[in-house]
Amino acid sequence: MPRNLIDITDLSVAEIDELIATAEDIIAHPAKYQDACAHKQLATLFFEPSTRTRLSFESAMLALGGSTLGFSEASSSSTAKGETVGDTIHTVSCYADIIAMRHPKEGAPFAAAQYSEVPIINAGDGGHNHPTQTLTDLLTIHREKGQLDDFTIGFCGDLKFGRTVHSLVTALSRQTGIRFVFISPEELKMPDHIKENVLAKRGLAYEETASLEDAMPALDVLYMTRVQKERFFNEADYIRLKDTYVLDPEKLVPAKSDLCILHPLPRVNEITVAVDKDPRACYWKQVKNGKFIRMALIMKLLDIRV
Ligand code: NCD
Repeated sequence: MPRNLIDITDLSVAEIDELIATAEDIIAHPAKYQDACAHKQLATLFFEPSTRTRLSFESAMLALGGSTLGFSEASSSSTAKGETVGDTIHTVSCYADIIAMRHPKEGAPFAAAQYSEVPIINAGDGGHNHPTQTLTDLLTIHREKGQLDDFTIGFCGDLKFGRTVHSLVTALSRQTGIRFVFISPEELKMPDHIKENVLAKRGLAYEETASLEDAMPALDVLYMTRVQKERFFNEADYIRLKDTYVLDPEKLVPAKSDLCILHPLPRVNEITVAVDKDPRACYWKQVKNGKFIRMALIMKLLDIRV
């Protein structure tokens, strides 16, 4: 059976620590890894739009000396002719050594894995999970804070449909001393399945508030998110909620001087461009880190060591 990454808990805490250590080593000694995946092929199957995730996967595989193939929209694949995900994956697993897949349906990568002889990586499934963004987030927090324990993190925006948030809360629930603050409008609150199956199950407390201003002073990490337009059933609700939180330099005045501001990107209006100059803005570093942690992940799933 190939090793897949469908849910962040498919990796143990110790394995995530190892991936972070490998990514740090890649950052320090990139040349050491330049032929690690020579003659290996990564397929990127994106049934939903993407910039960073797909290109960071491709850039990661190229930096490891491998090559890439794939498609970036379902309309250019046989999906448009009615082919099932199972048959598409069965086909691609005949050509590639590893597959990164994004799909609008929750659970599609899990289903796909049943048809694949090569490792499947979930690159985002609907409003459900996004484990490789979580690895990126964890590497960034680790580099900025020096550890993954004992801090207060505020998740702000669309906590209902934001798949990156669901995976990161799940990963952090396995660390120690994390204080969770969920900042959202009533309609976009953290889903009950995360509160019950992830947090309550581990006896973890969390705070919920609609006010970013009230939450700000206590935060060590602020994870901003985009309101997920594509998951709304109703355009009017999206328009009403989309600009609920707009982080600007003024809102950062009461924040800690070593706050780490993250955003999986793309941003729409939730962080003004003026914040980019603030040394606490870490989201562009996060983009870079996404490539290095994916290099580490590809090597791990292909069982390649250097
Ligand atoms: C996120 C995603 O696709 O879920 N983007 C990403 O992968 N970096 C966040 C988003 O689209 O809002």
